[in-house]
Amino acid sequence: TTGDTTYDNGFANTAVCKSAITYIDGDAGVLQYRGYPIEQLAEKSTFLETSYLVLYGELPTQTELDEFTQKISRHMVIDERLRELFRIFPRRSHPMPVLSAAITALSTFSTDTIGFDAERVDAATHRLMAKLPTLAAYSFKNSLGSPTLWPDYSLSYIENFLRMSFGTVTEQYEFDDEVTRALDVLLILHADHEQNCSTSTVRLVGSSQANLYASVSAGVHALSGPLHGGANQAVLEMLASIRDDGISVADYMGRVKDKKDTTKLMGFGHRIYKNYDPRAAIIKKHADSILGKREGSDQLLDIALELEEAALNDDYFVERKLYPNVDFYTGLIYQAMGFPVDMFTVLFALGRLPGWIAQWREMVNDPTNKIGRPRQIYVGETERAYVPMDRR
Ligand code: SDX
Repeated sequence: TTGDTTYDNGFANTAVCKSAITYIDGDAGVLQYRGYPIEQLAEKSTFLETSYLVLYGELPTQTELDEFTQKISRHMVIDERLRELFRIFPRRSHPMPVLSAAITALSTFSTDTIGFDAERVDAATHRLMAKLPTLAAYSFKNSLGSPTLWPDYSLSYIENFLRMSFGTVTEQYEFDDEVTRALDVLLILHADHEQNCSTSTVRLVGSSQANLYASVSAGVHALSGPLHGGANQAVLEMLASIRDDGISVADYMGRVKDKKDTTKLMGFGHRIYKNYDPRAAIIKKHADSILGKREGSDQLLDIALELEEAALNDDYFVERKLYPNVDFYTGLIYQAMGFPVDMFTVLFALGRLPGWIAQWREMVNDPTNKIGRPRQIYVGETERAYVPMDRR
């Protein structure tokens, strides 16, 4: 109950925990961070300001935001020995396991993993928020076999990430304000989403008093699954296969509905949203402006728009309440920005980090509010006596 409003979304008896961070009404397509509608934050806020809101519960004053930004900017650089870690991975490595390993390795360079007092929890919060863009960019550079760049303290959080991802030691990176703002908005839209698979993983691992780095590293692996964060990569692979195999949208939809194989309409459907995912609607608006910058992306956009139009008017999808989710358009934008498909889920992790940390902090601050030890329904053999080998 908040004030005179009871936000009982009807899951009191199946909920794994209480949380004051994100409110979702899946039937109405409502998403709010700390009570603020996602549409207003996407339009008016920045990713760092929204991260502050998700982490601390209130929109920051200018002084609070400046201090938060300063604390993060100061920590973006990583230890030289940690930079060496990326060199042990084969170039073809998918950046998600590389990122998870780097986060785990990061914990060995920090003393803020010992204990859960407010000072150490805040230090780990700022350090992880600061270093994840650097680790993500280095995971990308490793896959290219390219030298990594140090962060530049004169740049913003998003600009630093873009420059460390696409900049080179030999030439100045040219920023495109539309791309910078679009990435800022995309990260805002991914900042938290209640008890999704990866966030519940972070809380479950943290419930054993594992430190923040270990919990987030586990969350990265949970996110990598194609039914969760890996879906944005799977959407692009689906659109490209429709284009490259020369099959019609109608044929592809037929394959999905026939269920002859595990073909799904990736980027569609949601465990909670039985209406249009509010994030997808916002992302779709940015798709048009960004996709015009990249050859060939608009062909994939045309296929995506045709798929969406067909699904929204097809009984199979309407009856099952299958609508575009956050992943349906994001991959098109990331590709138009120049990211390869295997970096899309890394970008999802970058956006989801404040939510993972906020949910972990919420649990650390109230140990009674944690995902306890789940139970099961036993469906195995009833008790029986040991059988000696010669009688098996
Ligand atoms: C994310 O939880 C979160 O908040 C996650 C997330 C976040 O911000 O953290 O929002 C991010 O993970 C978004 C979802 C990304 N995943 C995908 O786009 C993969 C494709 N989607 C599906 O795998 C599926 O829709 C789920 C897993 C997302 C949700 O599945 P549900 O709601 O549990 O539905 P279900 O598996 O019980 O299926 C119900 C019916 C089935 O058909 P019938 O057995 O009734 O005949 O709908 C069908 C399913 O076959 N169905 C689909 C489908 N999704 C469900 N059919 C075709 N294409 C699809 N995408």
